Amino acid sequence: MRSLIDITDLTLDEIDKLIATAEAIIANPSDYSSRCAGKKLATLFYEPSTRTRLSFEAAMYELGGNVLGFSDAGNSSAAKGESVADTVRTVSCFADIIAMRHFKEGAPLVAATFASVPVINAGDGGHNHPTQTLTDLLTIKREKGRLDTLTVGCCGDLKFGRTVHSLISAMSRYANVNFVLISPEELRVPENVRSEILERKGVAFEETTSLDDAMPKLDILYMTRVQRERFFNEADYLRLKDSYILTPEKLKKAKSDLTIMHPLPRVNEISTAVDNDPRACYFKQVLNGKFIRMALILMLLEAAQ
Ligand code: NCD
Repeated sequence: MRSLIDITDLTLDEIDKLIATAEAIIANPSDYSSRCAGKKLATLFYEPSTRTRLSFEAAMYELGGNVLGFSDAGNSSAAKGESVADTVRTVSCFADIIAMRHFKEGAPLVAATFASVPVINAGDGGHNHPTQTLTDLLTIKREKGRLDTLTVGCCGDLKFGRTVHSLISAMSRYANVNFVLISPEELRVPENVRSEILERKGVAFEETTSLDDAMPKLDILYMTRVQRERFFNEADYLRLKDSYILTPEKLKKAKSDLTIMHPLPRVNEISTAVDNDPRACYFKQVLNGKFIRMALILMLLEAAQ
């Protein structure tokens, strides 16, 4: 059974096809409005979400399918102590495809082992978030016209931010992509991302604490939220939470065609005064997320036939 747990589960060809399908859907949504008639998507969300869950649900509805599931695992049998394995065996009896978000790293992988339908990782702890990355790749492709030859700045909580881990993993596969990793000392990318992805693939990257110094070089600036829920103590969170706040003033040093991204939710990292800057793409990202999830659901359901 084909699932999507890690972004590298997809070949670059498959990512190209997903992007092409998303663009075809954007151009002609009515051609796709009954492709999933009679099919059901289950959304199993053990952690808070607005965009990811609702974009999965909107995606399935726009394909003519239906949706079931839970957005608060406290109301599911998880509260009685049921394992992920048993929950997905059960849900496989009711749904044709599952999107799961879980606070535990690796839970969607366990789910994929026990489910008899495709499982999509909708975010697992501080680990990975492959469908946000597909959203980001579609956005970069639409804004820049390419996925190679880019200087990508990732700024904020690079330690716990799962969107950044998946984005680095995906973008490292394209030619001439280099990274500027901007974070406080305590929130640098985890050792495994540095050694197993960046160093192993020979990708050029630099680490810095200064957004100002990095700004003029960047083609993409990917801002992230400090992941409060993954901190061990509140004092550290409070000390680090406002390390970077993007303002119009800071953007004076940026390229005129910079693409400003953020997976959202934003807390304080981007001043609302930036929202009307034509370079701000974070709300376009949200919309792209629905289209790429439509393409992904189609691909996985087709593979499951
Ligand atoms: C992100 C997540 O859940 O990892 N949000 C999202 O899915 N768009 C980012 C975050 O929570 O900071």
